[in-house]
Amino acid sequence: MDFSEKILSWYAENQRTLPWRSSKDPYRIWLSEVMLQQTRVAQGLPYYEKFVEAFPTVEDMAAASEGKILKLWQGLGYYSRARNMHATSKVIVSEHNGKFPRTYAGLIQLKGVGDYTASAIASICFNEPEPVVDGNVYRVLARYFGLGLPINSTAGIKQFKQLAREVMHTKNIRDYNQAIMEFGAIQCAPKKPYCLHCPLNDSCAALKENKVNELPVKLKKTKVKQRFFNYLVVQDPKKQTLLEQRLGKGIWENLYQFPLIEYPGATLVEKKEVVQKLPGLSVGQISLFNKIPIVHKLSHQHLNTNFWVVGVNETLLEGIPWDEVIDYPVPVLIAEFIKTFKI
Ligand code: ADE
Repeated sequence: MDFSEKILSWYAENQRTLPWRSSKDPYRIWLSEVMLQQTRVAQGLPYYEKFVEAFPTVEDMAAASEGKILKLWQGLGYYSRARNMHATSKVIVSEHNGKFPRTYAGLIQLKGVGDYTASAIASICFNEPEPVVDGNVYRVLARYFGLGLPINSTAGIKQFKQLAREVMHTKNIRDYNQAIMEFGAIQCAPKKPYCLHCPLNDSCAALKENKVNELPVKLKKTKVKQRFFNYLVVQDPKKQTLLEQRLGKGIWENLYQFPLIEYPGATLVEKKEVVQKLPGLSVGQISLFNKIPIVHKLSHQHLNTNFWVVGVNETLLEGIPWDEVIDYPVPVLIAEFIKTFKI
């Protein structure tokens, strides 16, 4: 058996039963693959099920409000993926008669669909021999073939894609692509791969050269940026509060948050800034909810966050009753606060 046959035979024995595995519906495969780009299967599964229940077809998604989509996506991160998905669902309905393109070349034209997603849909749904290369595939190929090029360099990305194409099982690409990802997730795991019981252990370059823990090679990311957030949790006499929508580029585009004051360095919020942020309101007591800043870690930035409870004397004109705050799509950082805070 060659490499791809061994991967397929391992998959036949070890694959997990997952709801999208039985499907060739490009809408469902698209949904699952977009979600799985940023989450492991176990964490993505409940999101997938919620989405399929809320929007069983691409038409249902296209007809939904952005707020509903972002709310269901809440916690998955990279919210631009959800917004792109929504935009694409509308294009599929309005310009493609509700049908996904059936080729890699057609799929990659869609907003938010890159090389990985186009390859996944084309191969899983339409049997097009296009290899998928996700984090799992990089790991399996780097180790088995002993390829040390950084997987996040331009040269590395090109070489790995080429290698993936050379070794793929073209006849059964649908299963093979899922098999190599599954093999990477379960057998050739990042931290403790099960080399002792691996069907490829007689010919794995990394195992032979004792480099399993050194591969794949990844270039160090840019330094993590520290940011300092102060959220104003306004409280009026009727138990209402204020939310603002984040607009423009950057993290959490279009999600809601409490009015935010961001400083360039760690500092306590100043009353005059609070007054400025809340024009026309008579600001009363300001108290810090958390004893020490809450550090919310994103991939490239750490958000050092304070929640300030700010009493105001008048009824807020645009106030949101506290028990309705939960209906808004918010970052997890704020969702966690809402869960613990009693107005
Ligand atoms: N990771 C992302 N997509 C996957 C799939 N279809 N099968 C296994 N692992 C995956």
